[in-house]
Amino acid sequence: MRVPEVIFKTRVRDESIEGPNPFRWQDVTSSEIFGGKKIVVFALPGAFTPTCSTTHLPRYEELYEDLKAQGVDEVYCLSVNDAFVMYQWGKHLGAEKVKLIPDGSGDFTRRMGMLVRKDNLGFGMRSWRYSMLVEDGEIQKIFAEDGHEDDCPTDPFEVSDADTMLNWLKGRDEAGQKAA
Ligand code: BEZ
Repeated sequence: MRVPEVIFKTRVRDESIEGPNPFRWQDVTSSEIFGGKKIVVFALPGAFTPTCSTTHLPRYEELYEDLKAQGVDEVYCLSVNDAFVMYQWGKHLGAEKVKLIPDGSGDFTRRMGMLVRKDNLGFGMRSWRYSMLVEDGEIQKIFAEDGHEDDCPTDPFEVSDADTMLNWLKGRDEAGQKAA
């Protein structure tokens, strides 16, 4: 299965813009992110939420170099939040290695089959937690949390973590299938 082809609306610093908001919009396509590369994506329900902020993203940041050593080119954190929120969350956490990607309209997440309703928390539509390894746009492995459902009363977080992905990559390496 291939990742959905979408356009992500991101915000980037632009030194040529003066004033308190020196950012411009930049469209980033799935092809630009995944084309010709080995990419780890992990998706979570929301910027600034507790487990996402204390564990899910920080552990990927900690293990970034280990993931790179397994042949991974980049690690992306995806959430159904807008570009302003994702930018500020990354800054708040001091994320310097993991790249945050805003799926504000949920297009990518919906087409991944991972969009869930979280109205029980007042969140609206969000991403189910999952991680995946994508090679040149082709999904090689997905770790999706169990219990995928709308308005899930719990927040399963067992397999989409950085250690599980790293251990899987190491096992693949030992089996002689390391991403070159
Ligand atoms: C959390 O990261 O802790 C969290 C995420 C979504 C809903 C509630 C909590």
